[in-house]
Amino acid sequence: MGLAGWGAVLGSLNVGLLCFGRFMYPRVLFEPRTTVKIGRPDEYQINAVNEKWIKLYRFWVVRTPAGFLALSGVCTHLGCTPRYLTAENKFKCPCHGSGFRGVDPTDPYPGISGINFEGPAPRPLERLKIGRAEDGQITVDFGVLFRSEKGEWEKPDAFLKFRA
Ligand code: FES
Repeated sequence: MGLAGWGAVLGSLNVGLLCFGRFMYPRVLFEPRTTVKIGRPDEYQINAVNEKWIKLYRFWVVRTPAGFLALSGVCTHLGCTPRYLTAENKFKCPCHGSGFRGVDPTDPYPGISGINFEGPAPRPLERLKIGRAEDGQITVDFGVLFRSEKGEWEKPDAFLKFRA
């Protein structure tokens, strides 16, 4: 066998070894963590929109007398981040002027927070999965979204019922 022949044999052996290696170490997809703990309920004021997480995770925490919800900071028009205007109690998008309802003190579950009422946004802000961890902290999963127009705000994970 000539040099070229041995080269071909060694080449195919290498391919075989590579395949074996891939078999021994299968590719695992590590998904980024999307659930975060955001503190205890008493750290949040009733009838208020909390902006603590908007920069880091792009959601607001809204506490009504009935409990908690997490609102996505992504405008449903073209994706800008609205601003919460405390005096007017609304989320106002700086890009094209869409407005979304803030917190309503008389708000029953699931409430009107995040509903669009002015400007071009075609639908309400989305809500994120919210719950409690074993240590009592509130958890928010910004990988699970609930859309009002699909009736998903009624789902149990879209609102955390809690009374002080
Ligand atoms: S992106 Fe918010 S109004 Fe257009």
